[in-house]
Amino acid sequence: MEIKSFNPPIRTLMGPGPSDVHPRVLAAMARPTIGHLDPAFIGMMDEMKALLQYAFQTRNALTIPVSAPGSAGMETCFVNLVEPGDKVIICQNGVFGGRMKENVERCGAIAVMVEDAWGTAVDPNKLSETLKIHPEAKAVAVVQAETSTGVLSDVKTLVEIAHRHGCLTLVDAVTSVGGSPLLVDEWGVDAVYSGTQKCLSCTPGISPVSFSERAVERIKARKSKIQSWFLDLTLVMNYWGGAAKRTYHHTAPINALYGLHEALVLLKEEGIEHAWERHQRHHFALRAGVEAMGLRFLVKEEHRLPQLNAISIPESIDEAKVRQRLLEEFNLEIGAGLGSLAGKIWRIGLMGYSSSPKNVLFCLAALEKVLIEMKAPIARGAAVSAAGAVLTEPPSS
Ligand SMILES: Cc1ncc(COP(=O)(O)O)c(C=O)c1O
Repeated sequence: MEIKSFNPPIRTLMGPGPSDVHPRVLAAMARPTIGHLDPAFIGMMDEMKALLQYAFQTRNALTIPVSAPGSAGMETCFVNLVEPGDKVIICQNGVFGGRMKENVERCGAIAVMVEDAWGTAVDPNKLSETLKIHPEAKAVAVVQAETSTGVLSDVKTLVEIAHRHGCLTLVDAVTSVGGSPLLVDEWGVDAVYSGTQKCLSCTPGISPVSFSERAVERIKARKSKIQSWFLDLTLVMNYWGGAAKRTYHHTAPINALYGLHEALVLLKEEGIEHAWERHQRHHFALRAGVEAMGLRFLVKEEHRLPQLNAISIPESIDEAKVRQRLLEEFNLEIGAGLGSLAGKIWRIGLMGYSSSPKNVLFCLAALEKVLIEMKAPIARGAAVSAAGAVLTEPPSS
């Protein structure tokens, strides 16, 4: 077999991530590679930290991109802040809370689970009750945007409750940063991680993280050595810390960081509030189209995540066949359900560069065509027309 250059098909990515990458980000990544201690690169790193502070809405000095995907950002938070024997409360309402549990247990700590049904938001009352039963808990971890179910939890309230009980707070913001409001300083979040491949219009593989002063104090006061050499922030900081004392830790993914820098410049140019509003507006348009087809959302309106739409699959429809046809006939990717929701929902992402009027209309038109051909009782043209009506509404003041 002769192996030639790999040329991927051109898809429209409307699944749970990765989402479409902005052309300016791809162009930035194709710029010449320079050394990771080159003065020009170091200048870019300082800008990157300021841009990440903007994305997280924080002044935290320890705000950096971890050179690995969102899962490594998650692990960075846990291995640095959790010590063997600690008790950590984890709010779980989907797949990613389960991964937090894994992380806590692999730190030699005890995970206490606060469970809510998949498709519902984390219940603040349950967290309060659990903290009363476990006053010795050291930290509370929560997923703001559960990508597996399309639910947005109320991080502001959950952080308030955790702090009242003297706990540090760890927040998964992989799918929320750039798509839904997250005010790290105003809400007092202590440790937060995100991903580049969702609402930041960037390629996968980098995980922005940010740690509050309180979290940094906790790291400094550790009695045990951080179990991961690569993710040990006290070492990583020798590279990402002050410009004067930068030393080699690992070879940074130079071109991937050019891409993230460009993605964050795009966010700054748009304005983060406008980015949040864009994700909301396109969700409303998609919702109008989905409902016009007689389809239903899994999640109650007040807890819906605008950038990830979990849609219940109609009776008698072969859901995998629908996704396959969308991919083969339209080059359009939408997501399947995960875990206990496999076969029950589609996950339609409207994240970052993918969150556009063009994609809303395209996805609805393609889905309608495939479903009608599969004999679903859907009125022709209703979905696109309903979404178009929302998209042409004048902006609310
Ligand atoms: C909420 C959430 N947390 C963590 C992750 C893990 O990120 P990654 O796949 O970049 O490692 C994801 C990925 O989809 C996610 O959606």
